[in-house]
Amino acid sequence: MNAGTETETLKAAKASDITPITSEQKTNMKKNILCVAGTRPEAIKMAPVIHELKLDKDYCVMTLATGQHTDMLTQALNDFGITPDANLNIMKASQTLDHITASVLQGVGGFLDANRQDMILVHGDTSTTFAASLAAFYRHIPVGHVEAGLRSHNMSLPFPEEANRVLTDRIADIFFAPTQGDADNLLREGIAPEKIRITGNTVIDALYHILRQDISEPEYLRTVGSRPLILMTAHRRESWGETLRGICAAVRDVLRERPDAVFLIPLHKNPAVRDVIREELRDCGENVIFTEPLGYPEFVRAMNRSVFILSDSGGVQEEASAINKPVLIMRTLSERPGAITHGTGVIVGTGRENIRSEALRLLNEPEYLSTITAKNTKPFGNGEASIKIHEAIRQYFK
Ligand code: UD1
Ligand code: UDP
Repeated sequence: MNAGTETETLKAAKASDITPITSEQKTNMKKNILCVAGTRPEAIKMAPVIHELKLDKDYCVMTLATGQHTDMLTQALNDFGITPDANLNIMKASQTLDHITASVLQGVGGFLDANRQDMILVHGDTSTTFAASLAAFYRHIPVGHVEAGLRSHNMSLPFPEEANRVLTDRIADIFFAPTQGDADNLLREGIAPEKIRITGNTVIDALYHILRQDISEPEYLRTVGSRPLILMTAHRRESWGETLRGICAAVRDVLRERPDAVFLIPLHKNPAVRDVIREELRDCGENVIFTEPLGYPEFVRAMNRSVFILSDSGGVQEEASAINKPVLIMRTLSERPGAITHGTGVIVGTGRENIRSEALRLLNEPEYLSTITAKNTKPFGNGEASIKIHEAIRQYFK
């Protein structure tokens, strides 16, 4: 008997040993749910959902990291005590959108072929989000979209995130919309109301979880003393190049007029961003503190400690609203209008002059600053989004 025939015989023997499951056993069987995350914000915003679902004995919950980000993904997952069950490790230096999309599609597809799933959950608007959804769609596996329905209504802003969200929502089966406005966007696109659940944003769950911890002040913040601290993050693809240089020029302008101020800049790992910022602000001395990407607890501490935040991040707009911290949004529009109507989010665009003048206004006019920080509404929910997502999933499987 050759080796091939032996394997066939073994397979046949094993198959004959299997007793077919009863219908009662079938209904008692655990549902397999796969949570996918590729980048830092997906990890932070998916973490509360993973923890919540893992409490449910009816589900077998797995976490698949695509590794679109390496360090920043692992750092964020670690901050929430999550070790992925598998990591596709797709990241390459200065990767292209084609590379991310193709490798996530193939990698997640292969994972789903080897590990049967009853649902996959994706988050937000990254290339991981879209490509993982597509892999599930090709296998008729239902897709749950956490943070569904956000729209800027401009396919180039942010790029490629607006397209990623729209495409994901075309093929998703269950939609967790953070706000009524996001749900309305989905309804306008013809999504059936029974497939949509308004949940709040899971980043608020993550934020509250961290705020309950005792976070000590790092040394670099202690050296700032009573000087005004401004936290700044920037990474959007559409701002790479000259726009990013203009943003840095605005920082220099602010420091010229307020030499007592200090900018804390945790540099994104992307060389297209970090190299430019470092070069443009290299002569600012003690007025600029560069750090590596901060762990989430440390970043929350820095948000709290700052007078205001200057950022093009989506998640930071939501978090800032929950801690009543002004955030000057370096974009020309936002898919998170709740941050702006709440008052903490102020769109300043990406032009040097406007960023300079809005930043100086916050630094120089305490009365104006206090109108921005004194708010009582919760545009992105009260930290129970993951519980609502859990309830909706239970209903889906009923
Ligand atoms: C990605 C998402 C963006 C999200 C952002 C969050 C896409 C197309 N973009 O943008 O929506 O807002 O993440 O931060 O999905 N790098 C490292 N180590 C890391 C992470 C990144 O070295 O841990 C470097 C690599 O050279 C990598 C590059 O950064 O090639 C860009 O990463 P990529 O995921 O393509 O884009 P982001 O700008 O991070
Ligand atoms: N963040 C962090 N450390 C940092 C910078 C940001 O933990 O050094 C967190 C931030 O609180 C928010 C998320 O990362 O929850 C935002 O990620 P990013 O700006 O990379 O992506 P975006 O929100 O724009 O998609």
